[in-house]
Amino acid sequence: MAINEYEIKKQICDIGKRIYDRNMVAANDGNISVKLNDNEFLCTPTGVSKGFMTPEYICKVDAKGNVIQANGNFRPSSEIKMHMRVYEKRPDVGAVVHAHPNFATAFAIAGIPLTQPIMPEAVIALGCVPIAEYGTPSTVEIPDNIEKYLPYYDAVLLENHGALTWSTDLLAAYMKMESVEFYAELLYKSKMLGGPKEFDKEQIAKLYEIRRKMGLPGKHPANLCAELNGPGKGCHSCDAACSCGTKKAEPDVEKIVAEVTKKILEQMK
Ligand code: 13P
Repeated sequence: MAINEYEIKKQICDIGKRIYDRNMVAANDGNISVKLNDNEFLCTPTGVSKGFMTPEYICKVDAKGNVIQANGNFRPSSEIKMHMRVYEKRPDVGAVVHAHPNFATAFAIAGIPLTQPIMPEAVIALGCVPIAEYGTPSTVEIPDNIEKYLPYYDAVLLENHGALTWSTDLLAAYMKMESVEFYAELLYKSKMLGGPKEFDKEQIAKLYEIRRKMGLPGKHPANLCAELNGPGKGCHSCDAACSCGTKKAEPDVEKIVAEVTKKILEQMK
C-alpha cells in the first residue's frame, strides 16, 4: 500500500486542482477522500484551498474519521463524517468528492432536484439526482440526510449547499461530479430557452437497457420503480418505467400460507 499511497495523494491533489480550476469550488470549499482499505482512508485537510495542495497536505483517517496520520497543523476535512457514511453504507465505493459547482449548487439552493430526462448521457450515467434535505455542515445532519439515497444513487445535491458524488475510484467519482454539473448546466440553459423537450418513457427505457448492457458499476435510480411503488416514486419527473419493466411485485407465498393456515386453525377451534 505504501507505494500506491503517495500516488493516490498526488491524484487527490490533481483532482483538487481540477475542481478548483473548473469553478466547482471557491476559496477553501470542497473535500475529497479515497478508501485505501476497510480501516484506512485518505482525505483532504480542512480549511485549505483544494486547488493548491501538495501530497503532504493529505491526511489519513480510520473508518470512524479519527486521525491516523496528519502532517503539521493539517486536520481532516470538517465533512469527514459525510464521506464516512458513504463508505459505511456502500462497500463498493472507493472515493467520494464534495464540491459546490455553479449550476448544480444553484439547483440545490432553489430546491429543484435534477429529475428531467433531457440527454442520453445523464440518463445513463446518473438517472436523476435528488436533493438531500439541508443539514448543518460538519454535523451528522448531512450524513443522516444523505443516507436514504445511498442505496439507489451515486450522486446527490445537498440542499442549500452543493453536490456529493461517489464511485469505485477517484477519477470515476470526479467524473460523476462533472456529469452532474454538465446536466445541471444544460437543464438550466434549456429552461432559459423555453423549457427542455423531455424524453418519453419508451426513450428512457431504451437508455436504461443500454446502461444494463454496459454493465456499469455503481447504483442507478432506474431501480426506483413507479409501477411497483406508485406515482411519483419513479426516478424521472415523467415516472419513467424502471429497469424491472412491467414486472409486478412477487406475492409473498410464505406470508399467504401462514395466513391461510392461521384461518384454518381458527375455524377448527
Ligand atoms: P473542509 O475544508 O473542512 O473540507 O470544508 C469545506 C466545505 O466545503 C464544507 O462543506
